[in-house]
Amino acid sequence: MKISDIQKLKGGSSSFCTVTAYDYPTAKIIDDINIPLVLVGDSASMVVYGYNDTTQITMDEMILIAKAVRRGIKKSFLVGDMPFMSYQPSVEDAIKNAGRFIKESQMDAIKLEGGIEYLPQIKSIIQAGIPVMGHIGLKPQSILTDSGYKIHGKKFDDALKIYEDALALERAGIFALVLEGVPEELAKLITESLQIPTIGIGAGRYCDGQIQVLHDLIGLFGTQVPKHAKSYVDLKNIISKSLSTYQEEVLQQQMPSNAQIYNMNETELEQLKKAIENL
Ligand code: KIV
Repeated sequence: MKISDIQKLKGGSSSFCTVTAYDYPTAKIIDDINIPLVLVGDSASMVVYGYNDTTQITMDEMILIAKAVRRGIKKSFLVGDMPFMSYQPSVEDAIKNAGRFIKESQMDAIKLEGGIEYLPQIKSIIQAGIPVMGHIGLKPQSILTDSGYKIHGKKFDDALKIYEDALALERAGIFALVLEGVPEELAKLITESLQIPTIGIGAGRYCDGQIQVLHDLIGLFGTQVPKHAKSYVDLKNIISKSLSTYQEEVLQQQMPSNAQIYNMNETELEQLKKAIENL
């Protein structure tokens, strides 16, 4: 998938599907079922590294998992998520760290959170030749100033600010826009006003595409999934049951059984025993 293929997904007769990925085996599965866009999300901070929120993950930690995902993705368009403090301090930091995603992890593009206040960073990254995907509405990297996670744009003033951010980011040259945690009505208005695809998470049904955190979809993270998410399988429980059965079988001397062992032939074994006696 190229950037032009992603842009062609705007205004399709049905939404397109995108998802996050954090490692090689799941990236391969995602690629095999032809999901057009994959995000190496900074949600890895919680679901991979076990931190409390996305303010903790570093650029080095993101690069490490992005490299693994890259090896599993051959067809999907692959986006690396700029972690907290990798672009906020300065335009120089933003270009340098976006560049690391391209050079070290071979991402096709980067994503960063923020509206008009980050236009200098966004424009400079694009100017340097790196495609940018925007992210507005609920911005998980802002939980410290926002006092936690909440739906944004329910009130007129906030909704207008988000709408204006969307227009400004499109004018700055982003190729797609993530809308997170906003009312469906606002996401619809933004989607209808933009030429680029919108990708919603907790933004209702009218975005051009949808994105979800992989671990929520497959029930791997364990804690309750957010209202906007849905678990299609309880993988945590399946893994837990499988490992408990394995442990039980080891304790009961049932694992390994005949099926899992390797044998020496009689002659080699006799020779070995004699050699040991004569040592
Ligand atoms: O990090 C992430 O997983 C994200 C998605 C929720 C869009 O930013």
